[in-house]
Amino acid sequence: MTYIKKDNDSVSDDIVWHNTTVTHQDRVKLKRQQPVVLWFTGLSGSGKSTVANAVESKLLSLGKHSYLLDGDNVRHGLNKDLGFSDADRIENIRRIGEVAKLFVDSGAIVLTAFISPFISDRQQARELLAEKQFLEVFIDTPLEICEQRDPKGLYKKARKGEIKNFTGIDSKYEAPLNPEIHVKTANKSIEECAELVVKQLMELGYI
Ligand code: ADX
Repeated sequence: MTYIKKDNDSVSDDIVWHNTTVTHQDRVKLKRQQPVVLWFTGLSGSGKSTVANAVESKLLSLGKHSYLLDGDNVRHGLNKDLGFSDADRIENIRRIGEVAKLFVDSGAIVLTAFISPFISDRQQARELLAEKQFLEVFIDTPLEICEQRDPKGLYKKARKGEIKNFTGIDSKYEAPLNPEIHVKTANKSIEECAELVVKQLMELGYI
């Protein structure tokens, strides 16, 4: 894990990759950690942001350098021009994949909390990174529970037809087939879910 993958697909041949004096490896050494993306995926209301937040707190207390990219927050800034059509979601995830890659290059442990409903988009994000720099974290909460919780009242609106293309209602969610970390949240506290993720990171040798 000593390098960052470079792309060769800029729109023009006149754009040449510029190598920096301070390298990824230098930053990794300074931070003393294995940079990685923890790609949280799950339905709206599944607990992605909450668990990712709790995991980040634990990483901080372990002295790890991290950054959390959260769907709702990123949609207030970088991705505020995007809605919830399939095409917009694909672009949402593409940009987040690229941003996550930059943070990994900086040496950080990145947590992303986006529904990211489509397998192919998550796969594309994975392919931006070197092997072992991407871990899919499935926050597995059944739709019935998410809908019961309905923290933002959005499922209710979606059922009434006031929101279109709502994931799980009239837009599909493709669950991961083989996630590196699988958190079944039903009957678990946030703390237990976060501990499970951190324990897995330790077992996999990341922290
Ligand atoms: S993603 O599908 O493109 O990955 P993202 O994670 O960025 O979605 O944003 C999801 C959040 O936007 C939800 O948690 C919810 O608060 C809000 N939201 C608003 N409209 C929708 C919708 N149609 N489908 C899903 N989430 C929506």
